[in-house]
Amino acid sequence: MNTIGKSFRITAWGESHGKALGAVVDGCPSNLPLTEEDIQKELNRRRPGYSLFSTPRKEGDKVEILSGIFEGKTTGTPISAIVYNTNQKSKDYSHLKNTPRPGHADLSYKLKYGNYDYRGGGRSSGRTTIGHTIGGAIAKKLLDYTHNIKIIGYTTKIGNIEGDFNYYNSIENNEKMINEELINKIENNPLRCPSSNADEMKDFVLNAMENKNSVGGVIELIALNVPVGVGNPIFGKLNGELSNAIMNINAVKGVEIGRGFESAELLGSEMNDEYYYDENNNIKLKTNNCGGVLGGISCGAPLVIRVAVKPTPSISAVQSTINIENKTTENLEIGGRHDPIIVPRVIPVLESMVAIALSDLMIRGGFIHPCKL
Ligand SMILES: Cc1cc2nc3c(=O)[nH]c(=O)nc-3n(C[C@H](O)[C@H](O)[C@H](O)COP(=O)(O)O)c2cc1C
Repeated sequence: MNTIGKSFRITAWGESHGKALGAVVDGCPSNLPLTEEDIQKELNRRRPGYSLFSTPRKEGDKVEILSGIFEGKTTGTPISAIVYNTNQKSKDYSHLKNTPRPGHADLSYKLKYGNYDYRGGGRSSGRTTIGHTIGGAIAKKLLDYTHNIKIIGYTTKIGNIEGDFNYYNSIENNEKMINEELINKIENNPLRCPSSNADEMKDFVLNAMENKNSVGGVIELIALNVPVGVGNPIFGKLNGELSNAIMNINAVKGVEIGRGFESAELLGSEMNDEYYYDENNNIKLKTNNCGGVLGGISCGAPLVIRVAVKPTPSISAVQSTINIENKTTENLEIGGRHDPIIVPRVIPVLESMVAIALSDLMIRGGFIHPCKL
């Protein structure tokens, strides 16, 4: 299963240490202005080495569009894009051939498929999210071009350190919260965290790195300007499609919409978002505890999604594992080049999957013409 979507479909392909990775995007309507730069911009945000907290593997991740564009616009035919791997160091992984890494996918793939490309995690590598990001860059452009939809993500928690910037803390001005200043603040922080205690979080990660360990965290995603009516109950609900897209990203362990798990602790009177008419007779919510989704359908309020991301499984601290050839138990010290934390790098990937799910639902729902803009 390497394809997601029904009308707007992304097929992602490639492995960590293969020749290249990429995606085929089928179902993008014609006449969308699209350049390699639109995709490159998003890939650069995901690229290894963009910050202190990413793998030292040196990859330029330079994208080439192979098809689907004529005179700077989409033609409605499949858009194919490729990124060549240039910095594979496969011998770093030879010690993992028979000793699966705890917390990684090595053993699952080996047992299921038998013939497993263990180099860099093969198809289970974080590098495969290049495909998500190519598809997401096109989806983001489509949503922005047709509906001015903006999707941004930022870190709200690292380990057990809670940040002070999140959607609900900024509820007074949440409609205006996504501006150039905030985006620059997020992008210039190594953890993509706009909270005032981001430095404390940074020290927490550095300390884990010194101890050959890794950490996880929580990311919040906001989508603005999503029109009323997106989502198809009862098995194509907006919250269902978003969760499906997001939970298909490596290392994602939880998704919440709006108040999410916290809603279980609230009274009905605290959770319900009351209605009113604004000065232009538009229906509005007084609060947005539902995170923009009621009955599986967007209600016009910003989408608010929170995602839990686990610590990087490949750590160099000594762990116990098995040797599947010798049938023994061994100590394992993982070499190779790894992200000490996945959280900041996965943000563009999360934004991509939100954009892909929304594009697919909006084409199917008649918000975007399926053939031509
Ligand atoms: C952007 C990104 C980068 C990642 N980098 C690494 C890494 O450097 N080392 C590692 O062991 N896992 C990394 N992972 C996580 C593994 O891909 C993932 O944990 C593994 O496939 C097992 O899948 P699961 O955690 O979803 O069960 C990364 C994931 C993402 C999304």
